[in-house]
Amino acid sequence: MSGDDVNPSRRRFLTAATTVIGGVGTAFALVPFVSSMQPSAKARAAGAPVRADISKLEEGQMIRVKWRGKPVWIVKRTPGMLDTLPQLLEELRDPDSAESDQPEYATNTHRSIRPEIAVLIGICTHLGCSPTYRPDVAPADLGKDWMGGFFCPCHGSRFDIAGRVYSGVPAPFNLPVPPHRFLSDDEIIIGDDGGIA
Ligand code: FES
Repeated sequence: MSGDDVNPSRRRFLTAATTVIGGVGTAFALVPFVSSMQPSAKARAAGAPVRADISKLEEGQMIRVKWRGKPVWIVKRTPGMLDTLPQLLEELRDPDSAESDQPEYATNTHRSIRPEIAVLIGICTHLGCSPTYRPDVAPADLGKDWMGGFFCPCHGSRFDIAGRVYSGVPAPFNLPVPPHRFLSDDEIIIGDDGGIA
């Protein structure tokens, strides 16, 4: 029998068998790929939003929580601290936060949803040190013009109490504000703003 005389029903069988094998091969190739796309439970937990209870936060105090491995600071600012914000505009590099990283609802003078509650990522925008919270006014080491804020001892960057960077220091941007929202008066969730940004 020549090649042209192949039984048509046998030819159909061979074609169908090849298709099935091709399909199985594709399925085996896909499974490891899909499973490699699934984040591990640990990775999911590391990226998950975190809740912070601020019910015991007193005026002038700061608490720290960790979100995605980063320090997040929550500060309850006093009325006196808030009063300093409009006074500093001339001394700041990005007073309107036009070039800095924050959600739209924090693109305002106090860089926050509720004026008294600041939520900031505590990593210096120069080389990544963690600045210190310095709410004290005119301390000897920071000078008489210091009105309270955050000071990075690594290379001397200064930020006001809204995390806005002063001019003339190495840090180029304001401290970032993470996405967040209030679940109640006393609880904030960091890393989830419900898509309102
Ligand atoms: S890392 Fe903060 S000033 Fe350099």
